[in-house]
Amino acid sequence: MERHSRDYVEQRVRAGVLEKSTVDLMHALGIGERLAREGLVHSGINLTLGGELFRIDLKALTGIAVTIYGQQEVMKDLYEAAKARGISVFFEAKDVQLQEFSDTHPFVNYTRNERAERIDCDFIAGCDGFHGVSRSSIPPEALRTEGRTYPFSWLGILADVPPANSELIYASHENGFALASMRSPTRSRYYLQCAADEDIGEWPDERFWDELCVRLGRVAAPGVTRGPSVEKGIAPVRSFHAEPMRHGRLFLAGDAAHIVPPIGAKGLNLAAADAAILAETFAEFYRSGSEAVLERYGPRALARVCGAEEFSRTFLEMTHRFANGPSRAMQCAQLEKLLRSQEALTDFARGYVGVPLT
Ligand code: PHB
Repeated sequence: MERHSRDYVEQRVRAGVLEKSTVDLMHALGIGERLAREGLVHSGINLTLGGELFRIDLKALTGIAVTIYGQQEVMKDLYEAAKARGISVFFEAKDVQLQEFSDTHPFVNYTRNERAERIDCDFIAGCDGFHGVSRSSIPPEALRTEGRTYPFSWLGILADVPPANSELIYASHENGFALASMRSPTRSRYYLQCAADEDIGEWPDERFWDELCVRLGRVAAPGVTRGPSVEKGIAPVRSFHAEPMRHGRLFLAGDAAHIVPPIGAKGLNLAAADAAILAETFAEFYRSGSEAVLERYGPRALARVCGAEEFSRTFLEMTHRFANGPSRAMQCAQLEKLLRSQEALTDFARGYVGVPLT
């Protein structure tokens, strides 16, 4: 059940870095053909420090690369496969209400095309995001939540220009963090750390490009090709998780259960891992008929989430400008230490490429 139209989901600009676990999952599901053709395999990333560029060779350090492939492309592949396999997706479902999920016969009420509908089911997978109805349907006293919203946001743009570099660049600058990313060889995605209450109207394209070049620094800035933005938006930076990830027959997955700061590019990968673990849990339930297997989903999923949260927080605290947090001098010392030590780099690279699913 999807609140938006198919068209909206397929156009919406979201995440763009797939970990190997997600790539493997798509192949295992038989939906990896276009990904194999169009995904950009990146074996390294770059960090800037004092205007210089330092490459971290993920592949050499861990044996694993990451793949650039937009979330909306993943969604297109999923929807195509669903259609081919006769799996129904109800778009533009409104007024969704989750019912009786403490019991063994839950159902979902919703309206579509102005008509009231009901689906009876064995389980409800609540994959409806941070602001969705799933988590808020669980009595608050039954959930333990942990999290914080950082006092800054990310201002992102998308532009149909070649990327600044063949691989991603994470820039730590005294004006704030910047990230040079991409979606394809002709489509760039850039981010700037900005104030939490930043007014997007204050950021005409020229100002964005100027500030991006300042933050990317001496070596990386000349690679930037300017062009009109085709999308521009501000996203909060937050960290959050709720546990348990299950209440009776309702299971939370993805952003409905957890949010990580965007710097680690973990959100989509965690959501895919949740879905894979949940599917396995259901399969095991139907094989064994044992209610006890349902207990395993949350702890297994949450272990990955906590690892990703920890990595994202460390990366964030090393690279973002804080009013009340690590000082610039401390951050530079940490980055230098990271870049000098093979052991620290290997640890970092492992965190970046993520943990295998099995
Ligand atoms: C993105 O392209 O949206 C992106 C890439 C890498 C990150 C975060 C976001 O670490």
